[in-house]
Amino acid sequence: MPRMIIDILTGFPEIFSGLVNSSILRNALLQDAVDIWVHNLRHYTSDRHGNIDDAPYGGGAGMVLMAEPVWNALDSLQTIRNAQPTRISMTPQGAKLTQKRVRELCKFEWLIVLCGHYKDVDARIFERDQWTEISIGDYVLSGGEIPAAILVDAVVRLLPGVIGDAQSAESDSFEDGLLDAPYYTRPEEIQGYRVPDTLLSGHHENIRKWRIAQRQERTQERRPDLWQAHLNKSNPSEE
Ligand code: ADE
Repeated sequence: MPRMIIDILTGFPEIFSGLVNSSILRNALLQDAVDIWVHNLRHYTSDRHGNIDDAPYGGGAGMVLMAEPVWNALDSLQTIRNAQPTRISMTPQGAKLTQKRVRELCKFEWLIVLCGHYKDVDARIFERDQWTEISIGDYVLSGGEIPAAILVDAVVRLLPGVIGDAQSAESDSFEDGLLDAPYYTRPEEIQGYRVPDTLLSGHHENIRKWRIAQRQERTQERRPDLWQAHLNKSNPSEE
């Protein structure tokens, strides 16, 4: 499979500088599983002062990211790369990011991720080209950079060869609609707290069953919404 390319468009590129040194992303870059390019939108404006935002027509608080720098960046990338990108804009108005959506995004060879950092971005950006608007949750951050970093991390760790043990990603929370089980590591006992006996038993079948039971119990307790969806999926007739 060709290596995935991710182009991030932002007015605040410095926010991403620490990210590439984090363990999983670093590993992914070293493994050549992905190329991540961070582009400063201020380099793509004809504004003398390098401004990339302005006040909204019709009034109101906050600033709006202009179309020009986004289109200049987009068009120059599309010319250089000679391919069709999947364009993603991070916004609280978007569809919610889920593990299912993350899996779908892994299939694309080229993602362009736009980080809005003001009140919003000029809506004509979405009139000219097709974009998928994605939100990381029902809360508002001051910009799309942290949401973009979250999306990139979630996608990149699933690319082939990035996590050493492919099974590790398969057992993640949400992969089959359940939360993950609790995990323990050395020592067997610390300050009187012991690792559950089953995990020390070496009995693989019992361990597997214990983990499933833990996942079900946790999901039921912590995420009744997920548990209900899981039950409906296992017994479609009862929906
Ligand atoms: N920008 C600001 N808040 C956001 C959110 N919740 N998701 C995605 N982008 C955002």
